[in-house]
Amino acid sequence: MPTVISHPLVQHHLTRLRDGDTAPTEFRARLRALGRLLTYEAIRAVPTQQRTIDTPLEAMDAPHLSQRFTVVPILRAGLALADGALDMLPDAVVGHVGLARNETTLEPETYYENLPATVADTHVLLVDPMLATGGSAVAAATLLKKHGVTRMTLVAVLGAPEGVGAFEGTHADVPVVLGGLDRELSDKGYILPGLGDAGDRAFGTLG
Ligand code: PRP
Ligand code: URA
Repeated sequence: MPTVISHPLVQHHLTRLRDGDTAPTEFRARLRALGRLLTYEAIRAVPTQQRTIDTPLEAMDAPHLSQRFTVVPILRAGLALADGALDMLPDAVVGHVGLARNETTLEPETYYENLPATVADTHVLLVDPMLATGGSAVAAATLLKKHGVTRMTLVAVLGAPEGVGAFEGTHADVPVVLGGLDRELSDKGYILPGLGDAGDRAFGTLG
């Protein structure tokens, strides 16, 4: 089961994304804000490690994050979400996976891949606003596992039941954090009620 974040701020940002009148500048800013909030939740279960530090007054054992992170946006729409994730994890490294959904077959096609050599030693936050058929997220997670990744969390703004089922059916070991779970997919593979084409709305490339 995905974790759906019901926090009022998440829901408000999501509503502004859904509104068809929201312009690209605001759309990107809201995605970035959601990237922060969803990352905050996605990191909740990561253990901390005690290490000794010196405060100005004395030494103490203090908690540090026990894992290093790689943020991997699925291009294009994942980019603004990744900016928010990096606001929360400024020490993270970034990898990129370019996937475009063929709008006839709805199958993802890989056109770019650039992952850091260290990726297998880190916890990957795979970020993409939309989990529709799930094809893109499934393909990206499969690619990351081929590069040796064993710790991964998928962060998405909006999911459809079909996409959640497809992703969890293939990558049951990867937790899924969502800002919302919508009703269904349209016959063209759009999430309903959804927010439209996230990449086009973020970058102003609507036809
Ligand atoms: C969108 C979205 C996801 C994908 C989701 O990207 O950002 O990556 O569709 O659909 P799926 O779950 O059915 O695979 P798109 O392929 O439109 O590319 P873009 O981000 O460049 O617009
Ligand atoms: N990709 C999008 O950007 N939006 C959808 O509703 C489905 C896939």
